[in-house]
Amino acid sequence: MARRNKIALIGAGNIGGELASLVARTELGDAVLFDIPSKTDFARGKALDLLQNGSILGYDANIVGTSDWRDCEGADVLIITAGVPRKPGQSRDDLVGINLPIIRNVAENAKRACPDAFVIVISNPLDVMVWAYREFTGARPEKVVGMAGVLDAARMQHFLAAAAGASVKDVRAMILGGHGDDMVPVLSATTLNGMPITQFLSQDTLDGIVARTRGGGGEIVKLMGTSAYYAPASAAVCMAEAYLRDQKRVLPAAAYLSGQYGYRDLYLGVPVVLGAGGVEKIVELPLTETERAMLARSAASVQGVVDVARRLSAQG
Ligand code: APR
Repeated sequence: MARRNKIALIGAGNIGGELASLVARTELGDAVLFDIPSKTDFARGKALDLLQNGSILGYDANIVGTSDWRDCEGADVLIITAGVPRKPGQSRDDLVGINLPIIRNVAENAKRACPDAFVIVISNPLDVMVWAYREFTGARPEKVVGMAGVLDAARMQHFLAAAAGASVKDVRAMILGGHGDDMVPVLSATTLNGMPITQFLSQDTLDGIVARTRGGGGEIVKLMGTSAYYAPASAAVCMAEAYLRDQKRVLPAAAYLSGQYGYRDLYLGVPVVLGAGGVEKIVELPLTETERAMLARSAASVQGVVDVARRLSAQG
């Protein structure tokens, strides 16, 4: 008899709540909404609300709110949003000092409770937090990824579809590099149902869309006073589903590089094949010279923040 998947959501805030809602609605599995002890009741309240929602929408999923790591034992997937989101005017990198000790705490507990889980990190600065999580746990790199590319590509797909007057279903974009303002939208791999997007939109329009995509997270922080949660949660659930249902999806994700694209011991957004083995393959996309240079700039800025994280964690 097949048992239901168990999906532990570390952080029961805005993204955590939306994650639990999506996991339940899609019946991807049972959800554990975990938060710090002072937020146990908050997590339990969200879980109860979502359970009651199930009797209207009609889903079979159990949802538990907790601050006890024992409830996360044996989780198949762990999605980490623990930490502090950006406030207007802050960059993702500004969060490193606050979120690094939180990721260390999560990593130490997760290593005991669910060492075999497929882990998706969302906390920012993303590429550095996912690197730190793997460093703290020593987990196999193919079982630890960061969610950024699916979200960044979704933002760009929305802008492109609106500008082209096309359905968002037909637009596919590819974004590489770090989840920061110097991410690398690859226009040569961006299409309207297989046709190059450059046939449909002028260079000026495309330049504007690339700039808006790079600042896409910041645009929402400025409007809401906190960071986005609907699309980030959907992006992570899409990755979790690819793993749990062995879909072999080709998606951009922050993956551990060991020589691919010329980088080592660094997490960077690249196209990967996601299936039951986790990151089953890193796809090396042919890049133009300009794209390669943009990737180098993005990798250098991620490496700079990784160096800061290394220094901070050495200080304890
Ligand atoms: N363990 C578990 N949860 C924690 C921990 C911890 N050690 N420390 C903090 N949290 C919880 C907070 O109590 C809070 O409920 O993480 C939750 C974060 O939720 P929000 O503040 O609503 O933030 P959210 O919008 O969900 O974003 C979370 O994802 O996109 C990134 O930049 C964003 O780093 C931020 C993260």
